Amino acid sequence: MCGIIGYVGDKEAAPILLESLKKLEYRGYDSFGFATLYEGNICVHKDVGRISEHKNLNLPGKIGISHSRWATHGGVTKENSHPHMDCKNQIVVVHNGIVENYQELKKELLGRGHKFRSQTDTEVIAHLIEEDLGSGFEAAVKKALSRIEGRYALVVMEKGSDELIAVRRGSPLIIGAGEHENFVASDIPAFLERTRNVMYLDDNEMAVLTRTGVRFCNIQTGEETKKRIIRIEWDAEQAKKGDYPHFMLKEIMEQKETIMRAINQDEREIQNIADEINKAFGTFFVGCGTAGKVCLAGEYIFSKVAKKHVNFVVGSEFPNYHHFLKPRTLMITISQSGETADVLEAVEVAKKEGVKVISLVNVMGSTLDRVSDHTFLINAGPEKAVASTKATTAQLALVTLLAYASAGKLEEGKRLLMETASAVNDMLNPRYEAHIKKLAEKLKDEPNIYIIGRSLNFPIALESAIKIQEVSRIHAEGFAGGELKHGPLALIHNGTPCIALIANDEVKKDVISNAMEAKARGAYIIGISPESNEIFDYWIKVPDAGNASPIVNIIPVQILAYHLGVLKGLDPDYCVNLAKSVTVK
Ligand code: AGP
Repeated sequence: MCGIIGYVGDKEAAPILLESLKKLEYRGYDSFGFATLYEGNICVHKDVGRISEHKNLNLPGKIGISHSRWATHGGVTKENSHPHMDCKNQIVVVHNGIVENYQELKKELLGRGHKFRSQTDTEVIAHLIEEDLGSGFEAAVKKALSRIEGRYALVVMEKGSDELIAVRRGSPLIIGAGEHENFVASDIPAFLERTRNVMYLDDNEMAVLTRTGVRFCNIQTGEETKKRIIRIEWDAEQAKKGDYPHFMLKEIMEQKETIMRAINQDEREIQNIADEINKAFGTFFVGCGTAGKVCLAGEYIFSKVAKKHVNFVVGSEFPNYHHFLKPRTLMITISQSGETADVLEAVEVAKKEGVKVISLVNVMGSTLDRVSDHTFLINAGPEKAVASTKATTAQLALVTLLAYASAGKLEEGKRLLMETASAVNDMLNPRYEAHIKKLAEKLKDEPNIYIIGRSLNFPIALESAIKIQEVSRIHAEGFAGGELKHGPLALIHNGTPCIALIANDEVKKDVISNAMEAKARGAYIIGISPESNEIFDYWIKVPDAGNASPIVNIIPVQILAYHLGVLKGLDPDYCVNLAKSVTVK
């Protein structure tokens, strides 16, 4: 959602904060701000726009905080950008999350004479801390937070203090322990070039950072906590664009390797979890957005491969299902970031009923990784573009592997996925990309694109629509092929682009019939399929991947969405109005 980075050390803070915040831009990119402490005074710089375009930051001081914002409360203005301060400019706060009771707190604070400069919920935190500063910085922060409802991560600095205080409840915060310098950030890439030693903050935990060390305590009990330093082994280069113009294209191309990495799991663990699914009193797959579409694909894959009924429920709706939860129910969550608030809330609901939670996550050390009873890391490497690509296919591969294991055919599943990974490797070549780019040139000014699929490829039709919407801002909708005639056909007229996702399976003829129904009404049919067909106006060939067809069918749509975005003059990495990691409800 928003990106936070704090620094305290023996170097000038501003250049470090500026560089580090650029690495967190994928978390929020509508405005940004910095605060440093110099000779006892707080210096602030805020602006609206993209941090990546900001060149210099002339703020003195060796301690500071900064923030890239994705607006929730209050419009995108300089005043609403973080950091936020109290009435006397003694306290400065950056915050990720939502203060759910901010309206009543603000009313109270206004009643006591506080003056507000922004429309944000965050500003109440600065004023609450201000009220108790007499009892000391740390105590004042704890007291203020005891009044706050909601999930958050925040970092606070006080005029005249050489400490940064960081607190987490529900949103990620990670400490980077360097030499004569310490960092706190929403994500590791922010400081990875400076230190590989990290400590993850837990919920309700406070970290007090100085140049020489970091201490931790629980804000509810006041007890000191000890943290283990974890060494990050992945490379900072992996989180860079390299020679690619955009992260999205780099991540699409990385699918040459990531599918293989996703299935490289401990086979005993895969089999154990598959056995648990077989024995469970109901299994719920839970995820949001694209990860939710992978869950829905899981429903189809389990049904087809393992003849097993599993249920998909979208994260934000899961609490409505709590009546069906029993201690022998299993929950399988799928998430790239491991920080999606709706999924974390669903996990809380499940855990209250004693449900075991298994997660398929990309980010190691994320909240979901840590609260789950068992995690499978999909090992896709850092995914920075807001539109998920390589994480999606890695998740699809792992779900497919689990379904095969559940059917007692783990080896067969592994073979299928290895062949698919190798086919994807062959497919992702410059000629293939150019063929799809040509289609993007034809479609770029279209107001609507429709996508149809059946069976395993129905969820992929839905996912295709998300990809096109978020990257190109073209209205796109996915349907089950059979549903066209129940309504959406009314939207088809001469030249309307309709993508048909077709696999060599038992529903192939039916999807072709559905595409014909659209063609009879003038639709321009784009077939994504292993074989050509006379009804296609444009054919994108994909390998025949059997039950792994969702993996190969989504890739050309990812490439199409990317080129549509670029041709429309949009930045495909930063989808308008969206954030990479959605840490609010
Ligand atoms: C993906 O392209 C989207 N940006 C979005 O739907 C995303 O999949 C969703 O927010 C869930 O994120 P997660 O995988 O990090 O939980």
